[in-house]
Amino acid sequence: MVLDWLPKETKRAIESLDLGLNVYSVPEIDILLSKTVLFRGKKFRPTLCFLMGQIFGVELDRVQPYARAAEFVHAATLAHDDVIDESPTRRHRPTLNARSSNARAVLAGDLLLARVMAELSNLGEIEIIADLANTVEELVSGEWLQLEARKVGRVNRIHLETVAKKKTASLMSWCCGTAARLAGKDQSWVDLARQFGECLGIAFQMIDDVIDYDLKGEKPFAQDVREGLVNFVTLEMLEARPSLLEPLQQILGAVPASVLWPWEPADLENAAAKVRARADAKLEVAGQILDQLSQLPNSSLESVQALRSILVYLRERVR
Ligand code: FPP
Ligand code: MG
Repeated sequence: MVLDWLPKETKRAIESLDLGLNVYSVPEIDILLSKTVLFRGKKFRPTLCFLMGQIFGVELDRVQPYARAAEFVHAATLAHDDVIDESPTRRHRPTLNARSSNARAVLAGDLLLARVMAELSNLGEIEIIADLANTVEELVSGEWLQLEARKVGRVNRIHLETVAKKKTASLMSWCCGTAARLAGKDQSWVDLARQFGECLGIAFQMIDDVIDYDLKGEKPFAQDVREGLVNFVTLEMLEARPSLLEPLQQILGAVPASVLWPWEPADLENAAAKVRARADAKLEVAGQILDQLSQLPNSSLESVQALRSILVYLRERVR
C-alpha cells in the first residue's frame, strides 16, 4: 500500500502489525512463511480493517487481531494458490512450494488458518468467526470454480464475476463487515460495509486482469492464458470478435514458445478499456457507499478520505 495517504495512527498500526507466528514445535514453518507469503506484502486487507474500523468508531487496538487474521488468511490462500498454479515465483522471489515442497506449502497454509481460528475464538466474537468461516468457504469454492474452467475458452461473464466475488472480493468484504460488527451495528450496516468491500474486490480483480495483459507488468504477459484461464479482458476480446475463440482455445494452458497471439493490438486495447470502464463503475458504487458510511456519527473524516484515495489508487494501479 502507499502508506502516505493514511492517517498517522492508522499508518502506525499497519506498520507495527505483528505477523509473527512463533511455531515453537516446527520453527521451519515460521522461517518459510516469513520468507514468502508473509514477506513484505502490501497489507491491503489489514488496511481495510483499520480504516473501516475508524469509520465505525472502533479503536485501532480492538481491530488489530482481526487485521492480523485477514493477513494470515490471505497468506494461506497464496500458499495454497501457488501450489495449485505450480508457481515458481511470487513478488520476484521463490514461492514456498518452490523453496520447500507442495506438501509443506499446503501444511503451512493450514497452520495459518489454525492460528486464526485459535486467536479469534479467544476473542469470542462468534458472528465475526462465522462470517470468516463462510468467507473461507467462498475462497475455496471460487478457486474450485476457476479450476473447473481451466482450458475452457467458452466462459461467460457470470462465471468470471462469481469467481472474482468469491476468490478476491470475499475476504475484503469480511474485513469491512468486521468493522461494522465490532461497532455493534445492525445487519444493514454490516451488509453495507461488506458491499463496499465487495465492489472494491471485484474492481481489484478486473484491474488485475488488465495488468495481466500489460507488457510492462510484473508478471509474464498473458499469464492467465498461459495458466489456461479466460479473464475479464479475454472475455471482452471474445465477445467483440467471436472468431478468436478457436485460435485461443488452441493455446489456452499450452502457449507455444514461438507464440503469435491470435488477437490484434487494437482488440486488446479496446477490451482492456472496456474492463477498466467496468472496474470504474464498481469503484463508483463503492464511492457512493462511502458517502453513506461517512454520515455515521463516529466516522473519521481522515479515514473516509484515505478510502477514497484507495479507490483512486485501485483505478490507476499498474502493478
Ligand atoms: C490468487 O489468485 C488466489 C486467490 C486470491 C485465492 C486463492 C484461494 C484458494 C487457494 C482456496 C482457499 C484457500 C484457503 C487457505 C482458505 P491468482 O492465481 O489469480 O493470482 P496470483 O497471480 O496472485 O497468483
Ligand atoms: Mg496464482
